[in-house]
Amino acid sequence: MRSDTGYVEGLTTFSSPFGDYQLARYPRTSDPNLQAWEAADRYALTYLSDEPTTLFDGEVVLCNDEFGALATALHRYSPLVWNDSALAHAAIVRNFEANQLTQSWTPVKSSDELPNTGKPISLVVMKIPKSLTFLEDQLARLSPRLTAETAVIGATKAKHMHTSTLKLFEKYLGTTSTSLAKQKARLLFCVPDNDTAFPSPWPTSFDYDGHLVLGHAGVFSHRKLDQGTRFLLEQMKSHAWVKDATTIVDVGCGNGLLGLQAIKQNSDATCVFADRSYLAVDSAERNVRRWFPDDEQHRFVISDALASVEDPSQLVIPSASADLVLCNPPFHDNFVMGEETATKMFSQAAQVLSETGRLVVVANRHLRYLPILKRLFVSTGVAASNRKFVVLEAERPRTP
Ligand SMILES: C[S@@+](CC[C@H](N)C(=O)[O-])C[C@H]1O[C@@H](n2cnc3c(N)ncnc32)[C@H](O)[C@@H]1O
Repeated sequence: MRSDTGYVEGLTTFSSPFGDYQLARYPRTSDPNLQAWEAADRYALTYLSDEPTTLFDGEVVLCNDEFGALATALHRYSPLVWNDSALAHAAIVRNFEANQLTQSWTPVKSSDELPNTGKPISLVVMKIPKSLTFLEDQLARLSPRLTAETAVIGATKAKHMHTSTLKLFEKYLGTTSTSLAKQKARLLFCVPDNDTAFPSPWPTSFDYDGHLVLGHAGVFSHRKLDQGTRFLLEQMKSHAWVKDATTIVDVGCGNGLLGLQAIKQNSDATCVFADRSYLAVDSAERNVRRWFPDDEQHRFVISDALASVEDPSQLVIPSASADLVLCNPPFHDNFVMGEETATKMFSQAAQVLSETGRLVVVANRHLRYLPILKRLFVSTGVAASNRKFVVLEAERPRTP
C-alpha cells in the first residue's frame, strides 16, 4: 500500500453516516493540523443520509472533492468527480486503494464537459471553490445538464459562504437557500428551476504586449496580469537568461505567460509548461497555439511541481536536461497557505536543471525563499527587487 511514498502514515479515520474510511491528503503534508476532510463533508453526507434514496437513482456528480471524503463515502453510487486539480483525482485514487474499494468513480477534468451517460443527473454535491469565477463557470456548464428534479447541495466552511456565492447559484441554476451553520460549516440547497440559461462568460482574454492572453475561469491571473508576473516578465527582457537556453520549463505555468515570453525572446527554445490545474495547462496550450501557430516543439503537462501525478518518483522531464526554469510559485492552496509546494518546485527544479542551468523565481518580498534556495543551489542571489516583489536567481544545483 504505497509505503514507498510513506503515504500510509497520513491516514486517519473519517466517520460518516455512509461508513468509516481511512483518508489521507495527497500530496502528503508535514502540517499535522491539515486533514483530508472537513466538517462540511460530514455535514453534507449527514444531510444526504436522511434524504430519500431516490436521490441516488440517476447520475451522481461530485464537484471539487479535494481528497475523496465524498467520493469514498458515496462510492457505491459510482459518482462522476469533476475537479480542476489533477492532484485531487490522484488523492481519490489513493484513498480508494487505502480502503480496498473498487475504483467505481469516474474522474472528469475541469477542462472537459461532464460525460452524458444517458442517465439524468439526480444529485450534485459541490464543495464550494475559493474562486468565484471558477464557481461561476462550473454552474454555467452544469446548468444545461440539470432539471428541477436534480438535488444540488453546496458545502463549505460557513465563513466562505457569501451572498455572492448564493447569487451565482440563483443566477445560473435557481432557487437557493442555506442551512444553519454546524461545526462552522454550512450547506446550500438549490433547485435548478431557472427558465433562462446563461452561458459561461469564461474563458476571457486580456492584452499583453500586443498579444491576447486567454485565461480559463479560476486560472491564476485569468482576468489581468498579476503584478509579480509582470515584474518577472520585465526582468526577462533585460536579463540574458533566455538567450542561449535550449530547454525552458515554466513550472506552475498558469496561463503560460512566463513561457510565452521566453519563446518570444528565443524562438529556437523548447518550453515545457507544467501545472496541476487542468484549466491552467489548457489555457497555456491555447495561448501557445495562438501566439506561435507554427511551433510544435513545446509540451504541456499535468504535474505535481515537476513530478508525475501518477508516480511521484518520476520527473516529467529528464533530470539534468533543462537550461532555465521559470517559477512564480503558489503561496496558498485553495484556502491553505504554506511554502511546501514552492519548496517542492525548487528542489525538483534543481533536479531537472543541468550543471549550468538556472532557476529564476519571482515572489512577494515577505516570502523567505532565499534560504530554501541556498540549501539546494551553490550560487543564489537577488536579480531584482521593487517595493513588493523580488526576483531570485539560483545556479549550480547541489548534488543530493
Ligand atoms: C502564482 S501562480 C503562477 C502562474 C503563472 N506562472 C504566472 O506567473 O502568471 C502558481 C501556479 O502554480 C500552480 N500550482 C499550484 N500547486 C501546484 C503543484 N503542486 N504542481 C504544479 N502546479 C501547481 C497553480 O495552479 C498556479 O497556476
